[in-house]
Amino acid sequence: MATKLWEKNFTVDRDVETYTVGRDREMDLYLAPYDVLGSMAHITMLQSVGLLTKEELDTLLAELKEIYATAEHGEMVIEDGVEDIHSQVELELTRRLGDIGKKIHSGRSRNDQVLLDLKLFIRSSIERLAHGIERLFDALITQSERYKDVIIPGYTHLQVAMPSSFGLWFGAYAESLVDDMTVLRAAYDVANRNPLGSAAGYGSSFPLDRDMTTRLLGFASMNYNVVYAQMGRGKTERIVAQAIGSIAATVSKLAFDACMFNSQNFGFIRLPDEFTTGSSIMPHKKNPDVFELTRAKCNKLQALPYEITLVTNNLPSGYFRDLQLIKENFLPAFDEMMSILDMVTAMVGRIEVNRDVASDPRYRLMYSVEEVNRLVQQGVPFRDAYKQVGLAIGRGEFDPVTELHHTHAGSLNNLCNDEIRALFDRVMESFRFDDYHKAVDGLLSR
Ligand code: ARG
Repeated sequence: MATKLWEKNFTVDRDVETYTVGRDREMDLYLAPYDVLGSMAHITMLQSVGLLTKEELDTLLAELKEIYATAEHGEMVIEDGVEDIHSQVELELTRRLGDIGKKIHSGRSRNDQVLLDLKLFIRSSIERLAHGIERLFDALITQSERYKDVIIPGYTHLQVAMPSSFGLWFGAYAESLVDDMTVLRAAYDVANRNPLGSAAGYGSSFPLDRDMTTRLLGFASMNYNVVYAQMGRGKTERIVAQAIGSIAATVSKLAFDACMFNSQNFGFIRLPDEFTTGSSIMPHKKNPDVFELTRAKCNKLQALPYEITLVTNNLPSGYFRDLQLIKENFLPAFDEMMSILDMVTAMVGRIEVNRDVASDPRYRLMYSVEEVNRLVQQGVPFRDAYKQVGLAIGRGEFDPVTELHHTHAGSLNNLCNDEIRALFDRVMESFRFDDYHKAVDGLLSR
């Protein structure tokens, strides 16, 4: 039998219920602990403005703490016939405590509940992601330093261009992650504002103390305007998805390079056997399926902000049920990104490189600019030196000096990995995750 928070004197058609609830019960399990935390902050505030007694608050908080522990351990169940996590928490409270369980919804709506749950979920998920990115960053810098002297050709148009190195190649992806972290940090700021108190999207006639709930939940500020707070649904997810997409783009490019460099025609890197897969017909195959799937998974993740855009694009202001469906694409994206990061970090750490790539005569022409520059340093004007080397190449008489003197910042003999690490550390520290941890710990120990 269906139990709805809003049911009055008629029962909703079963098929309509199935259609409207859809996969929402499954999705709401991602939000369960955050829903409980939000309620704890809300009722603490309700008591402070006289809408609950101290006794009622204490009873409710004790019960909510238990529900929180269940949710934290992933043991929360949303029962058949219960619409969503918000209804389930209220139902459990009323089952255990009777009528006072019904008091927690004063001054709230499921619209600001789900808004808040999403923001709290995003905050911890970004924290998890940031640490995952940090581990990949460390692995890349370690490999960059380990192989900093190993030269490989750099390519433009996929044609041999100029000398590069494994130091540059690994380090480039590390620095790319610095910028992705900067975008993630911006997304974090957007998410880290409190929508609670916006209720259905237009506030409440109760004197809600929104400063208090902002503080209790450790938000950097509130979303002040209640109409804007509701407009943040979908927008916040899209911005966060863009940040995820940015990380995915970096990792996808790395995966493509790795597949290419691992092919026999390049032979630049070798993946350890246990990180490759075989063929059912060709006995010699050791395929880079991990990087291929990484590429595809990352490409799918990059579709996420566009999927969200399409759901929200033509909606006017105010709540619409359309917004519910964003959860199906958005919520699982963090676990997906984390599993990619963990796998790629393990792979990167195990990549072995071919130290002799540069001695292969087919890459000889990558030294052409070195030769031009050598002549320029001897006093030949650049254009003349360029022509001289070009003609020698044409005659098949190009015999380059392969010693490399690249000294400027960011070049192959001066990678600036310490500077890159300093940039990374600065963004990482700027999140100040401790601020919200302190608040949440405080709320849980009230
Ligand atoms: N499951 C709903 C969502 O994700 C919760 C909010 C329901 N609000 C409503 N007015 N029907 O949007």
